[in-house]
Amino acid sequence: MRALGDLIVRRAAKMLTNCGDAPVFEGPAAVIIRDGRVAKVVSELDLRDELAGSSDAPELDAEGRAVIPGFVDAHTHLVFAGDRADEFAARLEGRRYEAGGIMRTVEATRAASLDDLVAGIVERAGRCLDGGTTTIEVKSGYGLETETERRCLEAIQRAGDLVEPELVATFLGAHLNPEPGYIDMLIEEMLPVCAPLASSCDAFCDVGALSVDESRRVLLVGKEHGLTPRLHAEELDHTGGAQLAAELGCASADHLVHASNEDAAALAAAGVVPVLLPATSFSLRSSYADARRFLDAGAEIALATDCNPGTSYTTSMPFVVALACSVYGLSATEAVRAATAGGAKALRRDDIGIVGPGARGDLVVIDGEDWVDLAYHPGMDTIAHAVKEGSIVR
Ligand code: NIG
Ligand code: FE
Repeated sequence: MRALGDLIVRRAAKMLTNCGDAPVFEGPAAVIIRDGRVAKVVSELDLRDELAGSSDAPELDAEGRAVIPGFVDAHTHLVFAGDRADEFAARLEGRRYEAGGIMRTVEATRAASLDDLVAGIVERAGRCLDGGTTTIEVKSGYGLETETERRCLEAIQRAGDLVEPELVATFLGAHLNPEPGYIDMLIEEMLPVCAPLASSCDAFCDVGALSVDESRRVLLVGKEHGLTPRLHAEELDHTGGAQLAAELGCASADHLVHASNEDAAALAAAGVVPVLLPATSFSLRSSYADARRFLDAGAEIALATDCNPGTSYTTSMPFVVALACSVYGLSATEAVRAATAGGAKALRRDDIGIVGPGARGDLVVIDGEDWVDLAYHPGMDTIAHAVKEGSIVR
């Protein structure tokens, strides 16, 4: 395990703190990190006085670049085996996406050992870090039988000890309803085994997956096991998942491509975070969620990769931010806020996604003077450095 670091990040052109009424701190700015936590954000001009000549902490010179919180990718399916490149190629020739494609990844995942699954997560989490992601939510859901779901969650736990980003596990045994009696089995057998290894419970409420009533059953029993509910909702069609997420007070409702104004209002009123996944729409060549609809309704939105082998095989939050700007029409600051503080809220965390006193010292130095460069240079490497709890990890 990495020791929690002391670090002073200096000479930032500007900093997105996501804190209070002035979420943008105009530079030259510095952050003082002690024991892995942010102690203070100060003007570079005041740094000497703040330290009173006493600090021998290591320094990271941002050299006039912009600094943002580490990305919080609040929706991924990083634990799987195999790939479905052939399915993607077939879609390019006109085949439609169907939720049932999940079963191909299920077969490969059932056949994979614990070590194989850990290695896959480690490799992908390293790529996430390359893109500036310091916290990753990881869902199970390619096991769909008790032993494989448990093994996937154990793999997340083991990989979490091996990688720099923090991994947050979600149980998604309800990724499909593959056979009669499955939901009963999930509730009676799978949840008791899997719940101790996860912090949230998710369900794929959609055409070809679970109905609203099936999703409600799963999430309510998940809650009894202490799991925070979240829901894949309105991705492939409008089936009522958003209203269910509001009814249950889910931490997040994810995808929302087909959500209505009423859905947006209900989510905002219930404090459910809409987690928007533009890379999925990009890869499926489907329509995109209406991000502005949720902001106008008063919700705090999150952006995430949805990294999975079927519909969005990317680990790149900079790419997601670029899509959110150019396709959703968000400003760069709105998009980066959603990819940091928004993700943190979706995970019900107040110690990440911000650069403020007490928060974890998780930062990204952008390779440019402004975070707009994330969207201005799509597909390019725009991450100069990543810092995790005060240690320079990239
Ligand atoms: O978020 N929507 C459900 N699950 C994944 C896709 C799963 C797959 O096709 O493998 C998603 O898009
Ligand atoms: Fe998903």
